Amino acid sequence: MSMSIEEAQNPRPGFPRPVPNTPESVFDQLKLTNRVAIVSGAADGIGLAVAEAYAEAGANVALWYNSNNAAIEHAERIAKTYGVKTKAYQVEVSQAEKVQSTIQVVEKEFGKIDIFVANAGMAISKPILEQTLDEYGKQMSVNVDGVFYSAKYAGEVFKKQGSGNLIITGSISSHIVNVPCDQPVYNSTKAFVTHLGKSLAREWRDFARVNIVSPGFFDTKMGAGPDAITEGLRMTSLGRQGHVKEIKGLFLYLASDASSYQTGSDVIIDGGYVLP
Ligand SMILES: NC(=O)c1ccc[n+]([C@@H]2O[C@H](COP(=O)([O-])OP(=O)(O)OC[C@H]3O[C@@H](n4cnc5c(N)ncnc54)[C@H](OP(=O)(O)O)[C@@H]3O)[C@@H](O)[C@H]2O)c1
Repeated sequence: MSMSIEEAQNPRPGFPRPVPNTPESVFDQLKLTNRVAIVSGAADGIGLAVAEAYAEAGANVALWYNSNNAAIEHAERIAKTYGVKTKAYQVEVSQAEKVQSTIQVVEKEFGKIDIFVANAGMAISKPILEQTLDEYGKQMSVNVDGVFYSAKYAGEVFKKQGSGNLIITGSISSHIVNVPCDQPVYNSTKAFVTHLGKSLAREWRDFARVNIVSPGFFDTKMGAGPDAITEGLRMTSLGRQGHVKEIKGLFLYLASDASSYQTGSDVIIDGGYVLP
């Protein structure tokens, strides 16, 4: 039962909390100078664009990859281009010990972790009646377990530091049921991590912010496949898939002081797909 008006008149000690000492200029708020970010799934697609955006804004970036070691060359190129420190790390995110140990290594090598973008993901888009248990397990292990391990072990560092910022790449598939290709397991993995992120925003309210980015179709390896593209373009109000350069600003905003009052949000960026 919620409190009566009379009961609700007792101020809580320590409230309101102080406004953070962030810059007044919005351009200064968006700077990530000397921040340290980890981005998983950073060899290509959305993760690579985000890693590059953070480096452009002045952050030192740990690029996590699994099978695509192009991340090593990207890390070297990004470091040279933007004058920041970068390094690529091979991490299979469904392996808890690997996630935990690499977070410890990054913390040691970079000195701290300010931002963790849990972006690695995969899909085996099939109806449940055609999906094997192995295919189900694989999607759960990467999209759910991988985000859980990343959050848990990054969260330990955030708590120790007294500050941190977790951003989870969800999907509009947590909001809608995709058409025309049935993919209930992928959709459900994204619903899990979206609610995990919102729940952590409360759990970590004293030391870290947590937000979710829910993309619609972006033109990457995980974008609309041949069976989905025609309907995807019809459903998307802007009539096209997004280019990864069009998602950099949102991830930068959420990682930066410009979003210092934003936690627990799930931001859809989909060219208007979910509108109809
Ligand atoms: N593109 C879209 O339309 C769209 C829409 C909604 C949500 N998303 C989400 O956006 C995120 C990024 O996807 P993307 O579109 O940029 O596609 P992508 O280029 O294929 O990126 C997916 C990344 O996840 C990594 N990954 C997959 N399994 C992994 C594992 N077991 N351990 C560690 N890393 C693993 C891959 O790493 P390696 O290549 O190194 O193996 C890859 O870099 C995903 O979470 C996806 O679900 C994408």
